[in-house]
Amino acid sequence: MHIPVMPDEVLHYLDPQPRQLIVDATVGGGGHSRLIAEIIGEKGRLIGLDLDPEMLALARPRLVGMNATLVHRSFDELSEVLRSLRIEAVDGILADLGFCSDQLADPNRGLSFQQDGPLDMRLDQTRGEPASSLLRRLQERELADIFWRYGEERYSRRIAARIMDVRRKATLETTEQLATLVRTCVPRSRGHAIDPATRVFQALRIAVNDELGALERFLAVAPDLLTPGGRLVVISFQSLEDRLVKRALRNKEIWEELTRKPVTAQDEEIRNNPRARSAKLRAATKKEIP
Ligand SMILES: C[S@@+](CC[C@H](N)C(=O)[O-])C[C@H]1O[C@@H](n2cnc3c(N)ncnc32)[C@H](O)[C@@H]1O
Repeated sequence: MHIPVMPDEVLHYLDPQPRQLIVDATVGGGGHSRLIAEIIGEKGRLIGLDLDPEMLALARPRLVGMNATLVHRSFDELSEVLRSLRIEAVDGILADLGFCSDQLADPNRGLSFQQDGPLDMRLDQTRGEPASSLLRRLQERELADIFWRYGEERYSRRIAARIMDVRRKATLETTEQLATLVRTCVPRSRGHAIDPATRVFQALRIAVNDELGALERFLAVAPDLLTPGGRLVVISFQSLEDRLVKRALRNKEIWEELTRKPVTAQDEEIRNNPRARSAKLRAATKKEIP
């Protein structure tokens, strides 16, 4: 079961109050949502979004008896979601990016190379194009670009060329096939714990789910959806996302930054939840209109 990261820090920076209207843009297992819903109470309202209907199904029982509306949509469609609920603006928005432990542990999603499974990688399996299809369809150059841009993989060209070779004779359908292929292309540096397949898996996942595009669109509309004085809290798990968040919150015409440097998890939390190690939290208040 997914453990929510930096729960105290999230509540500190989001600062939800009784009766407020708060959006959890990435409900996941509902851990943060529940903490927020308990504070805003039944006179407040939590609007929760997730790309993955299975995560919403997991979260629902944790939010029983609370005033929570869960919606299966991407956070870059938040304007449309709020409009359909006849909500003009909210008091706070939380986005805890990436994926949940439950999704990673499910071999059928193909997010992890630790277990063999189909190369899918979609967080929303009801739409979009699975990774195996991208690997079949894209040109060598496009694949190399994905591995380089989203995975910062130095051997991106070599890996893309090997995929083209394999593609001529067979199809790449499973996580194990891809991980093995990558390992044959990338020399494993001695004493280095990270599996060479890590960066390629991250890159493909980002491409399959258009993660950076969705985040940019979300960050662009978030100010319009917050009341003046409303708060935005974003937790990211890799540098490409954190860079986008940092850049957006630096806009002083819109935001009053609450975190000049990203907030990271305490050692004790990291000991109990290793996933928290790479989490970076940034927060800002929407400026009052003069
Ligand atoms: C790190 S988990 C959130 C965990 C949650 N805060 C909790 O306490 O359980 C990230 C979640 O965001 C969802 N997600 C990823 N991209 C999304 C997007 N563009 N729109 C909505 N949800 C998204 C994933 O499906 C996943 O469930």
